[in-house]
Amino acid sequence: KQLSVIGVPMDLGQMRRGVDMGPSAIRYAGMVERLEQLKYEIEDLGDIDIPRPEPNADNRQDNLRNLNEIAEGSSRLAKSVDQVIENKRFPLVLGGDHSIAMGTLAGVAKHYDNLGVIWYDAHGDLNTADSSPSGNIHGMPLAVSLGIGHEKLTGIHDYEPKIKPENVVIIGARSLDEGERVLIKERGIKVYTMHEVDRMGMTQVIEEAIDYLKERTDGVHLSLDLDGLDPSDAPGVGTPVIGGLSYRESHLAMEMLHQSGMITSAEFVEVNPILDEKNKTASVAVGLMGSLFGESLK
Ligand code: ARG
Ligand code: MN
Ligand code: MN
Ligand code: MN
Repeated sequence: KQLSVIGVPMDLGQMRRGVDMGPSAIRYAGMVERLEQLKYEIEDLGDIDIPRPEPNADNRQDNLRNLNEIAEGSSRLAKSVDQVIENKRFPLVLGGDHSIAMGTLAGVAKHYDNLGVIWYDAHGDLNTADSSPSGNIHGMPLAVSLGIGHEKLTGIHDYEPKIKPENVVIIGARSLDEGERVLIKERGIKVYTMHEVDRMGMTQVIEEAIDYLKERTDGVHLSLDLDGLDPSDAPGVGTPVIGGLSYRESHLAMEMLHQSGMITSAEFVEVNPILDEKNKTASVAVGLMGSLFGESLK
């Protein structure tokens, strides 16, 4: 069990500063020690170098804020992730805002014919420049990975698309923009909104997601946005949405994913220590990693 950690101090995908300190906050919350107890051999590759845009410039082109810097940072991340998998190790990526998922998926998906993705998030992150209400690229990485968006993003790591819509499962959605709803319907993306989680319970949601992905994928990436959790459990995020997944539901989900043995790469994103309460959100992220990697209560 060999794991490589990659930090991505990226805050250019949204407007609130501080999420670039997410990787430090997660490390400080004891990630390495926690995972070493589970008998993992951990290698920390440090942080990806993220280009800095000109200070004070709006830096928006075609409703895509910081496009060039994000594309460059993502392509550096993709190379690093690709190499980790080449070395037969499990990539664990620490965000940074969710725009980094474009780079992570670019590095991972090359190695699979049918990569599955579990998108654990309050949001769909399925916007394009046309549908985005904000111009913030952290609201677009899932669309980009499906090959929908600006070519500087969809073409990261020189191939596209990275993933297929029928291999994606979104869990925890409760804030979807109009254009995202259209994409979900048109492309047949499987979504468990909070409505389904409430009706079916997390147990059935995850069982279904596992069965669904098992029959069509040859690897599964977990992209976990801490804002999927309720803000009372994970307050240190830039775009909190009330009515989210609980701490307990989230641990249950991670434990079941561990038992399934199907997760082949993971990222934990949107931890912003400036907005947090005494590093609570980073600690929650580390706890969830513990469950995902096999901590059990007995
Ligand atoms: N849907 C909104 C937007 O596109 C919010 C996106 C939030 N994304 C996230 N990764 N937290 O601007
Ligand atoms: Mn490769
Ligand atoms: Mn989100
Ligand atoms: Mn997100």
